[in-house]
Amino acid sequence: MNHPAPAPAPAPGCPQGTAVLRLTGVTLHLGRDQQQVTALDAVDLAVAPGELVAVTGPSGSGKSSLLAVAGGLQSPTRGTVHVAGTDLTTLKEHQRTAHRRRHIGYVFQHANLFASLTAREQLLLTAHAAGRLDAATRRRADELLEAVGMSARAGHCPDRLSGGERQRVGIARALVLAPEVLLVDEPTSALDRARARDIVGLLAQQTRAHRTATVMVTHDHEILDTADRVLTLRDGRLT
Ligand SMILES: Nc1ncnc2c1ncn2[C@@H]1O[C@H](COP(=O)(O)OP(=O)(O)OP(=O)(O)O)[C@@H](O)[C@H]1O
Ligand SMILES: [Mg+2]
Repeated sequence: MNHPAPAPAPAPGCPQGTAVLRLTGVTLHLGRDQQQVTALDAVDLAVAPGELVAVTGPSGSGKSSLLAVAGGLQSPTRGTVHVAGTDLTTLKEHQRTAHRRRHIGYVFQHANLFASLTAREQLLLTAHAAGRLDAATRRRADELLEAVGMSARAGHCPDRLSGGERQRVGIARALVLAPEVLLVDEPTSALDRARARDIVGLLAQQTRAHRTATVMVTHDHEILDTADRVLTLRDGRLT
């Protein structure tokens, strides 16, 4: 009796079809005329579920731009951006926003918290916006605030938090819905060594536990060993 041939071994990196995040030929021009900058230059990137990819590179090399395009915050000049099976570049703005709320957790380089909301409310609003503010999510919000060391300050608004505390709230907020895609911009820039290790450990643990496709931009070489792959951006080109 003939048995079906075994499936070929997957290519290293990320076989076609399994990536939950896939950028193909992404170029991004910013500014206009003489001032125009090529922030991203023909970038290809595929990230599989449960994979943590670190992206490093000098200041101005396009790291934040890469995340902005991957998260649908910025439309590329050319190329496609697939998130959870949908090409973001084919969506209208309100569809992109809805898709982002459902599938993507985003940690901004400068926390971007709402000034009038407490730390805990930042997390709950994210759940509410995605239509998922239930008891389990409230519990998860409290667990995450605990995990980032912010339980005691959960009732404080951003103006009563330090930079590092705001950063930790931003990280807990991005994790609250256990997103399929997690985009993290410089998560340790305002943290001390010990806290930086804890936070990156949490990001890695959540990535694996929830099979999240995570891209973490960082200057911090001490945390690169938590990543499955380390890529470098130089002048908008990914290597
Ligand atoms: N709105 C804009 N208009 C024009 N150029 C821009 C704009 N935003 C960013 N740039 C340029 O695009 C390039 C990439 O910027 P980006 O913010 O992605 O860099 P980065 O790698 O995140 O830097 P950093 O490590 O300092 O955060 C830089 O040359 C920057 O000056
Ligand atoms: Mg940046």
